[in-house]
Amino acid sequence: MRLVPLVALAALVLAAGSALTAGSRAAELREFDGAYSAAARPNGTVRTFELTAAPAEVTFGDGRRLHVWAYDGTVPGPTLRVRLGDTVRVRFTNHLPQPTTIHWHGVRVPNAMDGVPGVTQPAIQPGGTFTYEFTPKDAGTFWFHPHLRSSEQIERGLFGVLVVEDRVPRPYSREVVWVLDDWLLGRDGEIFPQFNTRHDLMHDGRWGNVVTVNGSTAQHLEVAPGERLRLRLVNVANGRVFQLGLGGLDARVIAVDGLYTARPLDPEAFEIAPGNRLDLDLTMPADAAGRRFTIVDRFRGQTTPLVTVAVEGPPVATPRFAFPVAARVPAWRGRDADAPRLELRLNARAGGPFGIAWTINDVAFDHDMGATPAGVAGMADHAAMMPRPYDLPLGAWSKLRFVNESYRLHPMHIHGLFFKLLARNGVPIDEPFFRDTVLLHAQETVDVATVPLDPGRWMVHCHILEHAESGMMTLVDVH
Ligand code: C2O
Ligand code: CU
Repeated sequence: MRLVPLVALAALVLAAGSALTAGSRAAELREFDGAYSAAARPNGTVRTFELTAAPAEVTFGDGRRLHVWAYDGTVPGPTLRVRLGDTVRVRFTNHLPQPTTIHWHGVRVPNAMDGVPGVTQPAIQPGGTFTYEFTPKDAGTFWFHPHLRSSEQIERGLFGVLVVEDRVPRPYSREVVWVLDDWLLGRDGEIFPQFNTRHDLMHDGRWGNVVTVNGSTAQHLEVAPGERLRLRLVNVANGRVFQLGLGGLDARVIAVDGLYTARPLDPEAFEIAPGNRLDLDLTMPADAAGRRFTIVDRFRGQTTPLVTVAVEGPPVATPRFAFPVAARVPAWRGRDADAPRLELRLNARAGGPFGIAWTINDVAFDHDMGATPAGVAGMADHAAMMPRPYDLPLGAWSKLRFVNESYRLHPMHIHGLFFKLLARNGVPIDEPFFRDTVLLHAQETVDVATVPLDPGRWMVHCHILEHAESGMMTLVDVH
């Protein structure tokens, strides 16, 4: 474990900048240069938020009450909204009956702010506090959630959205955040209290029996004809994958996992796996008054209504501007024959605390170190228990390969960097965008490439939380 002082971090980031010109794989780096920035550019504004995690009761569906765990008493928790260049300061208090942390999913934070217990910070004990502070380097749609017993804590309702607006936001008529989730409720109508069940572990994690958007089963949006909206979708479910049917609405994907795409894309083509975000640009036709649209989930064939959109009232002027696009997304074509620097085989075996352990290269990650109430000093002992982290060179181009040896789904997520898909099952794919989470299907091999610009010890894990909890996690040292 290295606790790198901020000054040293700045130096490392500068080193990453020079590695871009001098370092390995010059052609790939030239193509990458300018895709996203190595350093944050703070504008001097500090936005301070108070945030508390605690048991709460929320109203659900037809007025029923549900006992949850929540940030600031609501599910989803608050949407924290800042401008690119602002510094985010979150003074967090844990009033849960168990330790927790907050991880800032997709945000390139200083490693010590990443919220991984036993790796980047000690767990925050019940009654304890911790202040997270970072200046986002990228604008986009991000989210935050616990990184300790997350298959229980996220399922009980702990998640919120972090929106980092562009330095100069586009003049959309309106912005809407849609948090996609599901609850698994027992016969008593409460959250089914058994977590990490054998069934969940043997399948694609815990899928609920009630699908929600912003915590509601009947999400409704009223818009005026002519309005142009930016929709920010986040999948916070433990295991469920969503694929949208838009019911005739004309929307375009403009961002994936936070960052803009190189060109607008068809939303219905996307599988939105746990962890993924999708930003849509949606214009309501001027003559649509009185019409109703239903947006559905149609992953795996069944059709579940998510949101009804009702167009009402007199038309408004449509804001006219070009679709926002990424300044640069490298294609990195023809790299599919290269050997990967790192190959991660995904599989399961019998054993471990849950009876089934999900593994990466035959190793199941041991979570005890995160749950142990140990201070910073204790983290050194824990570090000794961990599998040796893999290495990724800072500021260099690296190819990674995920090999799914199992028949289950695995949305693989990497902290602290973005990556780009190169191939599925050896067939080259040029997605015109970066990701931080990619869904692997049964027995599938996925090649990605990345240029890590942020030094530190970062997690690589499946975002099906039961798989992660039972071991499908590992670490990479970017240095
Ligand atoms: Cu949402 Cu380790 O991640
Ligand atoms: Cu998995």
